[in-house]
Amino acid sequence: MYNFTYYAPTKVFFGKKTEDQVGEIVKSYGFHKVLVHYGTSSVKRSGLLDKVLSKLDENNIAHVELGGVVPNPRLSLVYKGIELAKKENVDLILAVGGGSVIDSAKAIGYGVTNPGDVWDFYMGKRKPEACLPVGVILTLAATGSEMSDSSVITNENGALKHGCSSNLSRPLFAIMNPELTMTLPDYQTSCGCTDIIMHTLERWFTHGGNMELTDAIASALIQTVMEQARILHKDPKSYDARAEVMWAGSLSHNDLTGCGANCRGDWAVHGMEHEIGGLFDVAHGAGLAAIWGSWARYVADSDLDRFVKLATKVLGIKPQKTDKETALKGIEAMESFFHEIGMPTCISELGIKPTDEDLNTMARKCIEAGGGKKGCAKVLYEPDVLKIYQMADK
Ligand code: NZQ
Ligand code: ZN
Repeated sequence: MYNFTYYAPTKVFFGKKTEDQVGEIVKSYGFHKVLVHYGTSSVKRSGLLDKVLSKLDENNIAHVELGGVVPNPRLSLVYKGIELAKKENVDLILAVGGGSVIDSAKAIGYGVTNPGDVWDFYMGKRKPEACLPVGVILTLAATGSEMSDSSVITNENGALKHGCSSNLSRPLFAIMNPELTMTLPDYQTSCGCTDIIMHTLERWFTHGGNMELTDAIASALIQTVMEQARILHKDPKSYDARAEVMWAGSLSHNDLTGCGANCRGDWAVHGMEHEIGGLFDVAHGAGLAAIWGSWARYVADSDLDRFVKLATKVLGIKPQKTDKETALKGIEAMESFFHEIGMPTCISELGIKPTDEDLNTMARKCIEAGGGKKGCAKVLYEPDVLKIYQMADK
């Protein structure tokens, strides 16, 4: 097992009606003025926003609101949020929503506390030195942003979707009531389950390290989410399934499933999806499912042991004549699961039609964002990424 630092400082309030405690929780930290940040409509429709504002009022906590975060959250709204938070002198950003809202809140948090253009951090030009505290009320189990160190923002100027990772942005607290996710459309629930599985899979494909415990946690997490995703596809109101998936989402991306590995994970599939999301505005989880199989087939020979272990220990595949055949059966099993829950396994099933030029552009930007290469299972360069996009483009 390789050395590692595990840092998961977020205080979690999990379970039914936990959002009712938001006023007391914010007060207990001594905050005075909150920027309540949210998406376009779901928190208004569900009544959650009104409830949150009244709980803050009951506890005499001043607040200002900024809604309008869209999936693949935009830099322009981040700039607005920074301006508002500075003008109103807020001391906490409360993100009420899914990963996009949380990521936008983190970016505002960087922008308020650091000089210069916040986009520099997403371009890797500088590192943030502070972040305003971020609290979360989660409405979508997917990204794990409620405990993660990362934030992903899309700059409309150039269709650039980039991430910034820093422990400074790990949320102070996360309120997680699985009931709040029951209003999600089926497609969005499946996207979330896919993203959760993928955060553990990205950390699975490394080389080396004896990680029996980490592998066992990862394996249980993937199996649990697959099983619960199937339940939710038929019974979206199942509280227990919602709860399992929500907790798995946090554990899948708070680094627990990567402890002891020889790198922080592969992340090539995420890098490739971010380019599709930046250019075509697709849902993140669906984008991941659309390219994972092509990536897996392309890199399998370079990390065969891990593919065989995934197939046999996680997906229940019997060993075939050769390791390669076993690995391929595992990839097929994962893809048929994606189809079972309504996810795509190729680019056309995302409902988009990139041109050859688009594929070239995405491959170039993906590698540029990775500083010249991408991946750990197999190190990928621009021609490799282009090839994977071409394989997925059917
Ligand atoms: O805007 P509203 O009306 O709220 O609608 C949202 C949005 O349209 C809706 N929604 C959220 N909660 C709902 C609901 N609809 C009904 N009922 C509810 N309870 O769902 C739609 C998608 O929301 P979004 O926040 O975009 O989804 P998700 O949580 O999947 O976040 C995706 C973003 O996070 C990034 C992705 O790249 C993408 O930009 N990621 C962030 C990560 C991180 N910070 O650690 C890691 C991930 O790998 C990922 O890259
Ligand atoms: Zn993800």
